[in-house]
Amino acid sequence: MKDTVNRTPEGIKIHMPEDFDGMRKAGKLAAETLDMIGPEIAPGVTTERLNALIEQFVEDNGATSATIGYRGYKHASCISLNHVVCHGIPGPKSLREGDILNIDVTVILDGWYGDTSRMFVAGAPSRKAERLIRVTHDSLMRAIEAIKPGNRFGDIGHAIQSYAESNRCSVVRDFCGHGLGRVFHDTPNVLHYGKPDTGALLRPGMFFTIEPMVNLGKAATKILPDGWTAVTRDRSLSAQFEHSVGVTEDGCEVFTLSPANRFHPFTEAASAA
Ligand code: MF3
Ligand code: CO
Ligand code: CO
Repeated sequence: MKDTVNRTPEGIKIHMPEDFDGMRKAGKLAAETLDMIGPEIAPGVTTERLNALIEQFVEDNGATSATIGYRGYKHASCISLNHVVCHGIPGPKSLREGDILNIDVTVILDGWYGDTSRMFVAGAPSRKAERLIRVTHDSLMRAIEAIKPGNRFGDIGHAIQSYAESNRCSVVRDFCGHGLGRVFHDTPNVLHYGKPDTGALLRPGMFFTIEPMVNLGKAATKILPDGWTAVTRDRSLSAQFEHSVGVTEDGCEVFTLSPANRFHPFTEAASAA
């Protein structure tokens, strides 16, 4: 059957009820990968060591990493430190006390994509870093609360933007969430800013990510000469959280919930690690 038959006029794929199970398994493995890596994060550890552990864990669990070979990217994760907004490349640099980092993994399990990222801290965060991380996390949670049939993508963006900006932070506009499923990046672009009651209607069976990047300073970013690493132009700290979700009849299912309840870095489960 042609793929286009189950798409909205905007080109957004509507998945079948049985497709949720594939996403549930892929999303769970992606979340377990981040649960696994949490206890390994400490001052002195290199980001390439963390990436190697991630690559091995994904393989040991019968999945493949979606980022290896994606547009020439060579690693099983993106690891973005401090003023790096996203797409940080794992390397030989050691973490230092107080560094904040986003680790983003995408796995392919039985053909389904699970994409999630969250923030970690090497040691203890500064007060401003902790505030940024909390604001970013909570902006994603507000966006998820806005997901239900009848609401629109603009409601999602507005939930993030209004919360982040009311907390004196800015929302990055140069990167967005995306449809996913049996592909990595699909229609639509999920913007992390917007106006209520605008954009495409949310319908059951839509699968997409929400992955707000929030800065303590201005929103502007630039790409480093390596062609991947995105940083804040003003070198202010940046944070990001990402979930993969599916719209249901009355809300949404989050496919990438942490089985160990460690998605939020400052819960007891995360800090007891
Ligand atoms: N996982 C990222 C996302 O959230 C994409 C990373 S692509 C890479 O969409 F090539 F940089 F790994
Ligand atoms: Co994504
Ligand atoms: Co991602």
